[in-house]
Amino acid sequence: MISAKIKNKIANGSAIRKMFEEGNRLKAIYGVDNVFDFSIGNPDLEPPKEVKDAIKELVNSDKEGLHGYMSNSGFESTRSAIAKKRQEESGVEITSDAVCMTVGAASAMNDVLHTILDPDDEVICLAPFFMEYINYVDNHNGKCVIVPTNDSFMPDFDAITKAITPKTKAVIINSPNNPSGAIYDESILIKLNEVISSADHVIHVISDEPYIDLVYDGKSVPPVLKYIDNLIICFSWSKSLSLPGERIGYTLVSPKHPDYTDLVAGIILSNRILGSVNAPAIWQYVVEKSLYAKVDVANYEYRRNLLYDNIVDAGFDCNKPSGALYIFMKTPQGLEDEVFAAICAKCNLLLVPGKSFCRSGYCRLAFCVSESTIVNSRKAFFAVADEIGLSHKTSL
Ligand SMILES: Cc1ncc(COP(=O)(O)O)c(C=O)c1O
Repeated sequence: MISAKIKNKIANGSAIRKMFEEGNRLKAIYGVDNVFDFSIGNPDLEPPKEVKDAIKELVNSDKEGLHGYMSNSGFESTRSAIAKKRQEESGVEITSDAVCMTVGAASAMNDVLHTILDPDDEVICLAPFFMEYINYVDNHNGKCVIVPTNDSFMPDFDAITKAITPKTKAVIINSPNNPSGAIYDESILIKLNEVISSADHVIHVISDEPYIDLVYDGKSVPPVLKYIDNLIICFSWSKSLSLPGERIGYTLVSPKHPDYTDLVAGIILSNRILGSVNAPAIWQYVVEKSLYAKVDVANYEYRRNLLYDNIVDAGFDCNKPSGALYIFMKTPQGLEDEVFAAICAKCNLLLVPGKSFCRSGYCRLAFCVSESTIVNSRKAFFAVADEIGLSHKTSL
C-alpha cells in the first residue's frame, strides 16, 4: 500500500506530462515533422566548451578525492569561487560558508524549505509560478498561499501585504520567471524588501534562479543580494550551462539575513538528511572551472523572436518575454486556457494551459525546440486563428 497522499498525486498527474503524452500520440499519427510541441522546457543547447574541456581534464586527472565524500556543503574551492563571483556581482561581502552545493535548484529548494518550515507554515507563491513549488512546500508540511501578480507579472504588493499572516514563513520569487519570462527590476526588489521587513516576524525571501543567465535584448537581472536582506538564493546550472540531467546547483544565504548562522547549518543538515548527502563531486569541479561561461544565449533569443513573430503575426496578443525559455501568451477572445489548448492541439500545436502555473487566461510555449519546428509551426498558428475567426496581423 502506498500513501494516500502519493496515490492522490499520481492520480492528478501533471498537465505538462499529459501534453507530452498527447504529443507522442499525435506524432505517431501525423509524423514528427507535423506536430509542433512547445510543451516541455527542456534546454536543448549544448553545454559550452568550458564545460566539455573541464570534464575531459577531470576525467584524465589524478586529483585525489575526486570521487569521494566531502563536507555535506560541498568542496571548499567551489564554494569560495561561487562566493567570490556573487560578491563581485552584488558588492555584498560573501564568504564560502554561505554556499551549500546541491542537486540542482529542486534539491536546493527542498533543503531550504525543510530547514525553515514548521507544520502548516505558509509560503507565498506569486502566480504564475513553477507548479513544483506546491509539491516542494507540501513535502515539508507547509502550505502554499497563492498571490496573483499584476498584468505585467510584477508582484502586487498590496495583495502580498494582505496575504501575510503570523504563519507566513517565506515568499518565493523567480526572476526571470517560468512561465512569464518577467524580470524584476531594482525598484521591485527594493519594494519587496520593504514589505517583507515591515512584517512583525522574519519572513524569508527564497530566490529561485535557474534562468538568471538567460536574458535577452541586452537586459540584465539586478543582484538580489544587494536589495533583499532576508534572502536565500537557490541557483542551478540546469539552464545556464545546459546541464539539467547532471543535477548541480547551490543555496546561498545572504550575510545580511538575521538567521544567517542557523540557516547555513540547517541547510547543510537538510542536504544530508533529505538524501542527497552532497552534490555530485565531479560536477562541483566542472562548474567551478566553468563559472563565468554560459550557453549561447543569442541562439535562444533568436528562437524566441521567431516564435513571438509567429504568434503575433497570426493575430494573437502576447508579451515578449525578457528572459527564461517561455512565451506566456494570452488566450484570445476570453477563451478558457484549457479550451484554447484543445483547439491548438487539433491543429497539432501543443502548449500548456496557464492553469498549470496557477494563472488562467494564458498558455505557455517553450521556445527551446528546434528552429525548424518553430518555422514550420507558423501555418499552425494561422490555422488556429482561422479556426476561431481571428484576423491575422500579417500574411502567412
Ligand atoms: C522555475 C524553476 N525552478 C526550479 C526548477 C528546477 O530546476 P533544476 O533542474 O535545477 O532542479 C525549474 C526547472 O525547470 C524551474 O523552471
